[in-house]
Amino acid sequence: MASCQACDLAQLRTRVVPGEGAEDADILFIGEAPGFNEDREGRPFVGAAGAFLDELLSSIGLSRKDVYIANVIKCRPQGNRDPLPAEIKACKPWLDRQIELIQPKIVVTLGRYSLARYIATESIGKVHGKPRKIGDVLCFPMYHPAAALHQGSLRKVIEEDMRRLPQLLRDIGSFTDVTEESGRQLDLF
Ligand code: URA
Repeated sequence: MASCQACDLAQLRTRVVPGEGAEDADILFIGEAPGFNEDREGRPFVGAAGAFLDELLSSIGLSRKDVYIANVIKCRPQGNRDPLPAEIKACKPWLDRQIELIQPKIVVTLGRYSLARYIATESIGKVHGKPRKIGDVLCFPMYHPAAALHQGSLRKVIEEDMRRLPQLLRDIGSFTDVTEESGRQLDLF
Protein backbone atom coordinates (compact mmCIF):
# COMPACT_ATOMS: atom_id res chain seq x y z
CA MET A 1 0.00 0.00 0.00
CA ALA A 2 2.86 2.35 0.85
CA SER A 3 3.94 2.46 -2.80
CA CYS A 4 0.46 2.46 -4.38
CA GLN A 5 0.12 4.62 -7.50
CA ALA A 6 -3.42 3.59 -8.43
CA CYS A 7 -4.79 7.14 -8.45
CA ASP A 8 -3.63 10.75 -8.53
CA LEU A 9 -3.74 11.10 -4.75
CA ALA A 10 -0.37 9.32 -4.73
CA GLN A 11 1.31 12.47 -6.09
CA LEU A 12 0.39 14.78 -3.23
CA ARG A 13 0.25 12.52 -0.20
CA THR A 14 2.85 12.69 2.54
CA ARG A 15 2.04 9.22 3.83
CA VAL A 16 -0.41 6.46 3.04
CA VAL A 17 -2.79 5.80 5.92
CA PRO A 18 -3.53 2.07 5.84
CA GLY A 19 -5.37 1.83 9.17
CA GLU A 20 -4.50 0.38 12.56
CA GLY A 21 -5.68 -1.92 15.28
CA ALA A 22 -6.10 -5.61 16.02
CA GLU A 23 -5.55 -7.90 13.05
CA ASP A 24 -8.26 -10.21 14.39
CA ALA A 25 -10.67 -7.49 15.50
CA ASP A 26 -14.36 -8.34 15.86
CA ILE A 27 -15.25 -4.75 15.02
CA LEU A 28 -13.93 -2.84 12.01
CA PHE A 29 -14.62 0.89 11.77
CA ILE A 30 -14.47 2.38 8.29
CA GLY A 31 -14.12 6.16 8.02
CA GLU A 32 -13.83 8.30 4.93
CA ALA A 33 -10.32 9.48 4.11
CA PRO A 34 -7.18 10.77 5.83
CA GLY A 35 -7.15 14.48 6.66
CA PHE A 36 -4.24 16.86 7.21
CA ASN A 37 -2.98 15.28 10.46
CA GLU A 38 -3.52 11.71 9.30
CA ASP A 39 -1.51 12.40 6.14
CA ARG A 40 1.41 13.68 8.22
CA GLU A 41 1.36 10.88 10.77
CA GLY A 42 0.31 7.94 8.61
CA ARG A 43 -2.34 7.00 11.19
CA PRO A 44 -6.13 7.16 10.96
CA PHE A 45 -8.32 9.49 13.02
CA VAL A 46 -5.64 11.48 14.85
CA GLY A 47 -7.43 14.86 14.75
CA ALA A 48 -10.50 16.18 16.57
CA ALA A 49 -12.80 13.55 15.06
CA GLY A 50 -10.32 10.92 16.25
CA ALA A 51 -10.42 12.24 19.81
CA PHE A 52 -14.21 11.83 19.75
CA LEU A 53 -13.86 8.33 18.31
CA ASP A 54 -11.50 7.44 21.17
CA GLU A 55 -14.09 8.76 23.63
CA LEU A 56 -16.81 6.70 21.97
CA LEU A 57 -14.70 3.55 22.15
CA SER A 58 -13.91 4.20 25.77
CA SER A 59 -17.65 4.62 26.53
CA ILE A 60 -18.08 0.92 25.70
CA GLY A 61 -14.90 -0.18 27.43
CA LEU A 62 -12.77 -0.47 24.30
CA SER A 63 -9.67 1.22 22.94
CA ARG A 64 -8.04 1.34 19.52
CA LYS A 65 -6.07 -1.81 20.13
CA ASP A 66 -9.31 -3.81 20.55
CA VAL A 67 -10.79 -2.86 17.15
CA TYR A 68 -9.52 -2.02 13.67
CA ILE A 69 -9.87 1.45 12.17
CA ALA A 70 -9.56 1.97 8.42
CA ASN A 71 -10.80 4.37 5.77
CA VAL A 72 -12.51 4.04 2.38
CA ILE A 73 -9.52 5.71 0.79
CA LYS A 74 -5.99 5.57 2.11
CA CYS A 75 -4.54 8.87 0.87
CA ARG A 76 -5.58 12.41 1.65
CA PRO A 77 -7.64 14.34 -0.89
CA GLN A 78 -6.16 17.85 -0.99
CA GLY A 79 -8.03 20.41 1.07
CA ASN A 80 -10.02 17.56 2.60
CA ARG A 81 -12.43 17.55 -0.31
CA ASP A 82 -14.79 14.61 -0.71
CA PRO A 83 -13.27 11.49 -2.29
CA LEU A 84 -14.01 11.11 -6.01
CA PRO A 85 -15.73 7.97 -7.33
CA ALA A 86 -12.57 7.09 -9.29
CA GLU A 87 -10.45 7.34 -6.13
CA ILE A 88 -12.86 5.15 -4.18
CA LYS A 89 -12.79 2.61 -6.98
CA ALA A 90 -8.99 2.63 -7.24
CA CYS A 91 -8.65 2.11 -3.49
CA LYS A 92 -11.35 -0.55 -3.17
CA PRO A 93 -9.02 -3.58 -3.52
CA TRP A 94 -7.12 -2.43 -0.40
CA LEU A 95 -10.23 -2.22 1.74
CA ASP A 96 -11.56 -5.47 0.29
CA ARG A 97 -8.33 -7.20 1.28
CA GLN A 98 -8.34 -5.69 4.77
CA ILE A 99 -11.86 -7.02 5.35
CA GLU A 100 -10.83 -10.40 3.96
CA LEU A 101 -7.84 -10.60 6.32
CA ILE A 102 -9.44 -9.20 9.47
CA GLN A 103 -12.76 -11.03 9.02
CA PRO A 104 -14.65 -8.71 11.35
CA LYS A 105 -18.02 -9.70 12.77
CA ILE A 106 -19.28 -6.13 12.71
CA VAL A 107 -18.38 -3.40 10.23
CA VAL A 108 -19.24 0.04 11.58
CA THR A 109 -19.51 2.47 8.70
CA LEU A 110 -18.68 6.03 9.75
CA GLY A 111 -20.36 8.50 7.42
CA ARG A 112 -21.86 8.16 3.98
CA TYR A 113 -18.87 7.00 1.94
CA SER A 114 -18.32 3.79 3.86
CA LEU A 115 -22.09 3.34 4.19
CA ALA A 116 -22.33 3.38 0.38
CA ARG A 117 -20.09 0.33 0.21
CA TYR A 118 -22.87 -1.70 1.87
CA ILE A 119 -26.09 0.25 1.45
CA ALA A 120 -25.92 2.42 -1.62
CA THR A 121 -29.41 3.79 -1.86
CA GLU A 122 -30.40 4.86 1.63
CA SER A 123 -29.41 7.98 3.53
CA ILE A 124 -27.45 7.87 6.73
CA GLY A 125 -30.18 9.79 8.53
CA LYS A 126 -32.51 6.90 7.84
CA VAL A 127 -30.27 3.89 8.46
CA HIS A 128 -27.88 4.96 11.24
CA GLY A 129 -28.10 2.77 14.32
CA LYS A 130 -29.86 -0.01 12.43
CA PRO A 131 -27.79 -3.17 12.00
CA ARG A 132 -28.08 -5.16 8.79
CA LYS A 133 -26.49 -8.55 8.13
CA ILE A 134 -24.86 -8.43 4.71
CA GLY A 135 -23.02 -11.61 3.77
CA ASP A 136 -20.52 -12.46 6.50
CA VAL A 137 -20.71 -9.17 8.35
CA LEU A 138 -23.18 -7.23 10.39
CA CYS A 139 -23.12 -3.73 8.95
CA PHE A 140 -23.82 -1.06 11.55
CA PRO A 141 -24.11 2.41 10.02
CA MET A 142 -23.18 5.41 12.15
CA TYR A 143 -22.74 9.10 11.48
CA HIS A 144 -19.13 10.16 11.00
CA PRO A 145 -17.70 11.45 14.32
CA ALA A 146 -16.76 14.71 12.56
CA ALA A 147 -20.48 15.33 11.99
CA ALA A 148 -20.86 15.95 15.72
CA LEU A 149 -18.15 18.61 15.55
CA HIS A 150 -20.19 20.54 12.97
CA GLN A 151 -23.64 19.75 14.31
CA GLY A 152 -23.65 19.45 18.08
CA SER A 153 -27.08 17.81 18.24
CA LEU A 154 -25.67 14.70 16.52
CA ARG A 155 -23.29 14.02 19.38
CA LYS A 156 -25.95 12.32 21.47
CA VAL A 157 -27.21 10.31 18.50
CA ILE A 158 -23.69 9.04 17.79
CA GLU A 159 -23.09 8.23 21.45
CA GLU A 160 -26.35 6.27 21.63
CA ASP A 161 -25.61 4.31 18.45
CA MET A 162 -22.17 3.43 19.78
CA ARG A 163 -23.60 2.10 23.02
CA ARG A 164 -25.51 -0.57 21.06
CA LEU A 165 -22.33 -2.24 19.83
CA PRO A 166 -21.59 -4.59 22.79
CA GLN A 167 -25.11 -6.05 22.66
CA LEU A 168 -24.92 -6.44 18.86
CA LEU A 169 -21.73 -8.43 19.27
CA ARG A 170 -23.47 -10.69 21.77
CA ASP A 171 -26.49 -11.13 19.46
CA ILE A 172 -24.41 -11.61 16.32
CA GLY A 173 -25.90 -15.03 15.55
CA SER A 174 -29.48 -13.80 15.48
CA PHE A 175 -29.42 -11.65 12.34
CA THR A 176 -30.69 -12.81 8.96
CA ASP A 177 -28.55 -12.17 5.90
CA VAL A 178 -30.11 -9.62 3.54
CA THR A 179 -27.53 -10.05 0.75
CA GLU A 180 -30.21 -11.12 -1.72
CA GLU A 181 -31.94 -7.82 -1.36
CA SER A 182 -28.79 -5.68 -1.24
CA GLY A 183 -26.58 -7.61 -3.70
CA ARG A 184 -27.71 -5.45 -6.57
CA GLN A 185 -26.59 -2.38 -4.62
CA LEU A 186 -23.22 -3.89 -3.75
CA ASP A 187 -22.45 -4.24 -7.45
CA LEU A 188 -22.65 -0.48 -7.78
CA PHE A 189 -19.63 0.14 -5.64
N1 URA B 1 -9.58 10.81 9.89
C1 URA B 1 -9.62 9.64 9.23
O1 URA B 1 -8.67 8.87 9.24
N2 URA B 1 -10.72 9.35 8.55
C2 URA B 1 -11.78 10.13 8.50
O2 URA B 1 -12.77 9.76 7.89
C3 URA B 1 -11.71 11.36 9.19
C4 URA B 1 -10.60 11.67 9.89
